[in-house]
Amino acid sequence: MNIKISKFIKQKNKKPLVCLTAYSKYMSKIIDKYCDMILVGDSMANVIYGMKNTHKITLDMIIMHAKSVKKGIEKSLFVVDMPKNTYQNSVEAKKNALKIIRACKCDAVKIESNGKNYKIIKHLVKSGISVMGHIGYTPQFKNTFKPEGLSKKQNDKLIKESKEIEEAGAFSIVLECITSKTSEEITKNLKIPTIGIGSSINCDGQILVTEDILGISGFSPKFVKKYINLNKLIEKGVQKYKSDVNKKIFPKKINSY
Ligand code: KIV
Repeated sequence: MNIKISKFIKQKNKKPLVCLTAYSKYMSKIIDKYCDMILVGDSMANVIYGMKNTHKITLDMIIMHAKSVKKGIEKSLFVVDMPKNTYQNSVEAKKNALKIIRACKCDAVKIESNGKNYKIIKHLVKSGISVMGHIGYTPQFKNTFKPEGLSKKQNDKLIKESKEIEEAGAFSIVLECITSKTSEEITKNLKIPTIGIGSSINCDGQILVTEDILGISGFSPKFVKKYINLNKLIEKGVQKYKSDVNKKIFPKKINSY
């Protein structure tokens, strides 16, 4: 296990872990100073490629963006998502995880849970690959959004699933859109840090999609807090550019050769 990962685990019960996504060097360079972990997630499908779900993201697309993101990271733990259908069995999972790690020089990969693939995590960890789990609303396996953990049956299933993932050797686990009560129980029950997205304050850390908190994606469910409205700022800049070009204010002599 590398130093960044053991530091990440040790932060449980000390200081909340700050995590965000990035899809380019320019974004990772800005957020690296403030993050404990940066994820190249398959949410790039929505926020970069305008797709309606994450199902069509390929290994090559993830690798291309992760290589760019790596260039901007100095200190954060660097995790890359394994796209849908790239870890359907242990052999395929290991081959594709190694492809990602070798190409992107990331510290770990993240795998969404379908409720029974913890054996794949076990195989990867045994092979020396660090894995982050992901339970609750897992977009690769679910088509319609709904919060998880509302019934006693769901609560118990999520608690069991999180324990199996920890026992398989994952170093951390994302809890997506899980009720406050279930998140609290999972977080207390595990030794590894839980990272919440839409899963309340009762997690060891938080992750959000950077484009969502900056107001670029236009995606604003209640679990996302918009910290600035970058769309408005971009529009303002582009309006000024249009006006300068139309009025022949730009380019000036200093912009010319
Ligand atoms: O793809 C993604 O961005 C994610 C996180 C939001 C956890 O999986």
